Amino acid sequence: MSQLAILGGNPVRKQPFSPWPQYLPSDLDRIRQTVESRHWGGFPYPTPLATEFCLSFADLQGARYALPVVNGTVSLTVALQACGVGFGDEVIVPAFTWDGTATAVLAMGAVPVFADVDPDTYCLDVESARRAVPPRTRAIIPVHLAMRFTDMDALMALAREKNLKVIEDCAHAHGGAYKGQGAGSIGDIGSFSLQESKLMTSGEGGLLTTSSLEYYEALQTVINCGRASLSDEFGRRMIGLNYRMTDLQIALLIGQLEMLPALREKRAKHAQLLTSLLSGLPAVRTLPPQPAITQPTHYTYVFQYRPEPGQPAPHRDLFVAAIAAEGIPCDGRFYEAVYRSDLFYATPGNCAQLKSDYSVCSCPVSERAAYDESVWLFQFCLIGEEEDIRDVARAVEKVSSNLDELAKQDPSLAGVKAMGRAQRARFERQKNY
Ligand SMILES: Cc1ncc(COP(=O)(O)O)c(C=O)c1O
Repeated sequence: MSQLAILGGNPVRKQPFSPWPQYLPSDLDRIRQTVESRHWGGFPYPTPLATEFCLSFADLQGARYALPVVNGTVSLTVALQACGVGFGDEVIVPAFTWDGTATAVLAMGAVPVFADVDPDTYCLDVESARRAVPPRTRAIIPVHLAMRFTDMDALMALAREKNLKVIEDCAHAHGGAYKGQGAGSIGDIGSFSLQESKLMTSGEGGLLTTSSLEYYEALQTVINCGRASLSDEFGRRMIGLNYRMTDLQIALLIGQLEMLPALREKRAKHAQLLTSLLSGLPAVRTLPPQPAITQPTHYTYVFQYRPEPGQPAPHRDLFVAAIAAEGIPCDGRFYEAVYRSDLFYATPGNCAQLKSDYSVCSCPVSERAAYDESVWLFQFCLIGEEEDIRDVARAVEKVSSNLDELAKQDPSLAGVKAMGRAQRARFERQKNY
């Protein structure tokens, strides 16, 4: 058996995967036209270019309306504000997600209440959410994480029963659908990120979807400095700041939307192949299929590292470093259990709305996923050729069938440090999440 690259052997793969982000030659024409139009900004809001783009995006997601905004964190704060969430209100969020899902709640003066995730999807576990619902809960934010969906039937039933607003965090779910309903069209409001690693990107940016005219107007007002919305049927006036996206970004997004369906199909086809190649490898568990997903979408491909009891069991971080050393861009601690994350500084000392800190919080599935189990492969590995996928599988197989060799290494993860600098630099260029 060949020696692992992390221990000095030859890597499975030396060439890079597909570059990300992708763009079309026509993007350059559109950017040029926008520059020449001398209409670069986002005012009046939404601009004619943005309105046209948003109609197509809303259509893709099966919502009536869409609106652009500066990023996918602000899209969450704006959605919370439009839903009437304010100081001291509680909002249920999954413990395993990007920290921004929860810090957006803090930024609105509200209190994030963490619920655990489902071990088979890593998305919000609705039963855990039900147990977490305290008396002042106003909203719930399911995150459709990586390549799976929250069980939206159960979640919407819980929301109806407890009278909660539902804001879907769809930062990973552009173009995805659950039981025929597009991500962001099932709850009250959908929130999308367009940051550079996302499935559609304008460098930075965000999109909001809704099918309610009342929310659509409230969102416009909050995004556009408190101005009346274009239709103003509901006459809602709220405090707003300037969160408008620019037309230069919209010019980029037109091509992104054009490319999305073909890229989505490719990712789905390659993800299926990868699942079949990884199934049955030692210490590897692929996520079970989720038949409710009628339009799969993959922000990342996730599988689980689960050494059998009695098997050699180097830590997940070393397992991931060994796969990376084989030439496959991947990550282990992609997200943390948010309440334990370095980026979640929330205490009653700095957030007046909190009555206690989060030190007693415990979401075991999220913690296991974050620190011991989940392995994340970047989506740009899925948009190239079938041979790329076979390389990924060869690398995982090489590492998973040499766990004994790996387990002999220093448990302080000296192996991670042993990754050559040049190799790290190569991944850093691709790994811009
Ligand atoms: C699940 C999730 N929610 C929210 C965000 C925030 O989006 P943005 O980076 O555009 O502010 C991200 C971005 O990484 C995310 O992954």
